[in-house]
Amino acid sequence: MTGTPYSPGLEGVVAGETAISTVGKEGLGLNYRGYAIHDLAEHASFEEVAYLLIHGKLPDGGELARYRKRLAGLRGLPEALKGVLEQLPAKAHPMDVLRTGCSALGAMEPETAEHGTYQVADRLLAVFPAMLLYWHHFHRTGERIETESAEESQAGHFLALLHGRQPDALQRRAVDASLILYAEHEFNASTFSARVTASTLSDFYAAVTSAIGTLRGPLHGGANEEAMRLISRFASPEEAEAAVRAMLAAGQKIMGFGHRVYKKQADPRSAIIQEWSRRLSEASGDLLLYRVSERIERLVREEKGMFANLDFYSASAYHLCGIPTPMFTPVFVLARVAGWSAHIIEQRGANRIFRPIAAYVGPAPRPYVPIEQRG
Ligand code: COA
Repeated sequence: MTGTPYSPGLEGVVAGETAISTVGKEGLGLNYRGYAIHDLAEHASFEEVAYLLIHGKLPDGGELARYRKRLAGLRGLPEALKGVLEQLPAKAHPMDVLRTGCSALGAMEPETAEHGTYQVADRLLAVFPAMLLYWHHFHRTGERIETESAEESQAGHFLALLHGRQPDALQRRAVDASLILYAEHEFNASTFSARVTASTLSDFYAAVTSAIGTLRGPLHGGANEEAMRLISRFASPEEAEAAVRAMLAAGQKIMGFGHRVYKKQADPRSAIIQEWSRRLSEASGDLLLYRVSERIERLVREEKGMFANLDFYSASAYHLCGIPTPMFTPVFVLARVAGWSAHIIEQRGANRIFRPIAAYVGPAPRPYVPIEQRG
């Protein structure tokens, strides 16, 4: 098989069909079930979008109200899960907390005929902020926070649990919009991972746990944290330009740039989150991070012909919402679980196990050598 052509990273390989979203397709751009991302980010709420992705249609007023109420009623943590979260180290990465919490919940509330696909999807969507912030507060202050709340939006619920007060209206809307942008993106690595796990007919929690593990890496979800570490190093746009120019000259990657699909076109989500970053910066009166980001973005575009992806301006936007940097990728989970759920459901609806083949590049067949004769 040596020399058999293949596509490293499965670039350009069509690995299945989906009716959930389109990414970078000629004339279609990015849309979720036919709705343009710009319209959704401007007019919809995250709960509306999650409903659209998972149930295949936009909810009417009554459906949305009932969905929000259902999610709000699913934010409580089982005592056993609180115990697991308390046992995890204070220094754990919050992505490890969500990965472990998801897996533990799957053992405590397994998927069954009664607690089926849609119930598990709702439960995970509702409970991830609680899981993350229960662990966060317990290990910082020893407080066992109450995670149930009647707050109708997931964004508001997350910010209220994080800061322990009613969220600022602009920050609430910015996080809501960012959850919409992060909710779904076709066959990205974590979604593909969820579908591969689902394709073995494993359970819903296993598929989401696989996806969280895949999202964690800096080439995927972890890029927003790396982008924050980069932009926060500089005291001025000029300093940022000089440093990033040197990084590019040294062949280093600038996190938050580049994309497997958006190579010749900009990531349409980037301009939307950039606008939120600008608004939040102006409201805070501190434009440094935004100006540094703008300068880096222009430089990388001019020097490498490479566009900022969603993760780049998300970094400053999240920072300005008071979200600690290690929580940036977990916030991605709170959103993308909607897309993962939709994909697990779609995969199950027309399943065939994923089982590609490899081009063999190992040794030619050779005789087995008994251990005492090996030297
Ligand atoms: N900064 C600088 N150069 C970059 C780059 C970046 N962020 N991303 C890619 N490149 C360069 C590569 O070094 C490579 O150069 P070469 O041809 O001289 O070797 C070329 O662009 C092609 O990149 P490649 O890594 O093959 O692209 P890919 O499609 O396999 O990977 C990403 C896509 C997203 C993983 C990649 O662009 C990346 O690592 N970006 C940074 C992480 C990130 O922001 N991830 C979030 C994605 S939403």
